[in-house]
Amino acid sequence: MGRFLTVSEDRPRCVLAFSGGLDTTVAVHWLTHQRGFEVVTLSADLGETADPEELQQRSLRAGAVAAHVVDAKQIFLTDFVFPSLQAGALYQGVYPLATALGRPLIARLLVEVARETGASAVAHGCTAKGNDQVRFDVAVGALAPALQVVAPVREWSMGRSEEIAYAEEHGLEVKATKESPYSVDANLWGRSVETGILEDPWREPPADAFDWTVAAAQAPSQGAIVEIHFEQGVPTRIDGQELEPVDLVVELNRLGGEHGVGRVDHVEDRLVGIKSREVYEAPAALILDTAHRAVESLTLSRDVLRFKRQVADEWAQLTYDGLWFSALRQSLQAFVASTQHFVTGDVRLQLRQGAISLLGRSSPSSLYRRELATYERAEDRFRHQAAEGFLNIFGLPLRTQAAIQGNLWEEARPLLQTVPRGIAAAPSNDLSKGDGNGN
Ligand code: ARG
Repeated sequence: MGRFLTVSEDRPRCVLAFSGGLDTTVAVHWLTHQRGFEVVTLSADLGETADPEELQQRSLRAGAVAAHVVDAKQIFLTDFVFPSLQAGALYQGVYPLATALGRPLIARLLVEVARETGASAVAHGCTAKGNDQVRFDVAVGALAPALQVVAPVREWSMGRSEEIAYAEEHGLEVKATKESPYSVDANLWGRSVETGILEDPWREPPADAFDWTVAAAQAPSQGAIVEIHFEQGVPTRIDGQELEPVDLVVELNRLGGEHGVGRVDHVEDRLVGIKSREVYEAPAALILDTAHRAVESLTLSRDVLRFKRQVADEWAQLTYDGLWFSALRQSLQAFVASTQHFVTGDVRLQLRQGAISLLGRSSPSSLYRRELATYERAEDRFRHQAAEGFLNIFGLPLRTQAAIQGNLWEEARPLLQTVPRGIAAAPSNDLSKGDGNGN
């Protein structure tokens, strides 16, 4: 079958993001028969597609006229994940954004296949309550404002059992595998788990919510030590061995998972205003985030580090909110890229029973100077005499203010009377002496 199909006279074409699950399988049929589209499917492999050909066959059997499968693993890491790692972006300080980073890439591929096949619409299987619909709709709007976006699952009023009934009625095969009690999305950068028992934020996530990581208590007590090398902010080696991005991330997911590293349990604020309990497994993401910060701590100035923390928050939020294809992300990315020039070096970490511990870091461009930091007098090159003059100036505004306004301060009230105190006096010492100002 050629990639370029001629558009039939009266049937508009729609490109559907296809995972092969129940929702998108029913959607192929629904878009064809309820909406009159000729359906082309697109499946993007971001690291979790076991059998691409099987997926294509499923799509065609459900009624699609063509089924595209794209191996997007490497581009996902180089163009979405690593820039985000360099930015230091964690949504609400904890979520490395695996799902949120995958969506704009899939949206871009949908748009490109739509252009290539002359489609007038794209479709996705997201619900009305999640963030993922936002990411698809907004990204497609940014890349191809003229394309119609159809969201069958948001439109039809079928629940899961009705979908199964619909599939049976129309001879659609539903995966025979036992249905997971959770809603899961996974790619190379992490696995996101929601719903089911997890909806009670007080309840500990059951063991079956996890697939990539062992429980910390089950992990080997001796742990593992791993060395990671970064080249201008990009991880390139594990334990001295050069690895392609995909292999490097796969290896850290495996190693971290074996040591119970990478679990996140978070009550998260969705863009649609809902608080939601989310469980993540992201061993490679958390290991690399820790390691990357360690190289930055040596190689970036205090001011860049401080400003970059604000950028990280902005980056995390815009990514989470589906604004990847925005001027803000482009500008922040230019800033982040400009900070990574010297972020080259090595980090040694211990992974042990769920914990990541930093053991050491080094960089050829390290700003750490032992001769300045040391407390060994003989090696010390810091100019101690300069401290007095520096502090005279640095403290000047506070001394000025204290002299003029100090009596109005809360701190002018004696604190000693309000706290318990023990005084032990030497036999011949009269403690009532002194002027009360430490003299
Ligand atoms: N809460 C995460 C996010 O908004 C994960 C969403 C997971 N999606 C899913 N279909 N289970 O990025």
